[in-house]
Amino acid sequence: MRGAAELTAPVVSTDVSEMLVCGMGGSGIAGDYLARLADGHGVRVAVHKGYGLPPWTERCRPLVILSSYSGATEETLSAAEAVEGAGLPVVAIASGGPLLERAGAAGWASIRVQPGLQPRAAFGWLLGAAVRAADAAGLMSGASADLVEAADVVDRLLEDGGWSLAADLAEGLEHRIVAVYGSTGLTAPVANRWKTQLNENAKTPAWWSVLPELDHNEIVGWSGPDHLGRNVAVVSLHDRDESETIARRFRLTRQVTSTDVAWVGTVRAQGSSALARMLSLTLVGDMVSVELAARYGVDPMEVEAIDDLKRKMREDD
Ligand code: F6R
Repeated sequence: MRGAAELTAPVVSTDVSEMLVCGMGGSGIAGDYLARLADGHGVRVAVHKGYGLPPWTERCRPLVILSSYSGATEETLSAAEAVEGAGLPVVAIASGGPLLERAGAAGWASIRVQPGLQPRAAFGWLLGAAVRAADAAGLMSGASADLVEAADVVDRLLEDGGWSLAADLAEGLEHRIVAVYGSTGLTAPVANRWKTQLNENAKTPAWWSVLPELDHNEIVGWSGPDHLGRNVAVVSLHDRDESETIARRFRLTRQVTSTDVAWVGTVRAQGSSALARMLSLTLVGDMVSVELAARYGVDPMEVEAIDDLKRKMREDD
């Protein structure tokens, strides 16, 4: 995040009051984080993880952020084509590829992020770029300043205590399917990021849910006849802004589920700004996924299943 690349052109922000982030996987989740951060600025950010554009954009005409680390993901390129056809204001974020070529040809504002990484490992760059774009558009004024504190919190956690916390958590999760629980607000997209990092880095099945919604369905599944829950470990993510009501729900939910699941762990956010708190929880999840990969003896970087599928989609075209 430090020294994130600059915008190539000013963001066209006239009359824009909301944003849409289009992106997939490790690039799309930057949009989920941006949406929660934008809540704090009273701005609506929608996220589109698919082809083309959602129909409502015709009437609402949001600022569109196209986020693709490789710049070559077919869903995001299809969104880029639709954006160009609709003449919407846009910022393209990528490390290179056809997306930045199109941005250059169309004269779009763009941000080139550091190349040579796995998209999910470039998450800090992608989110930092999205925050800068929103700030430059006047929709999240001053938000870029929080990137500095967030980078400090992440550095401190890396140097002091983060890895041993991650190792303890990985021990509880080993040989289990993982459920990551957040709550409506900042920890929801972080729970999703934990899940995807566990999938991709540790090659393990995982899912994520949020309170209060999970209290209205998921808790019933724990009492199933075959005790399938005994193969599951639950990690809950907490932020200092969690309301007393949600804290109570977490306590009661834990009472209901803890007898049915194999293991329960808890992680608390650190830092001051919303961005720093989200990224502190994110980093712990990233480290847990790497620790777990080591325990399983798998390469955390390899994602052959994703690459293979992308290749097959191109071949069938
Ligand atoms: C790979 C990863 C994937 C990609 C996704 C989209 O590390 O996390 O989820 O992010 O396949 O590709 P990009 O990010 O290049 O648009």
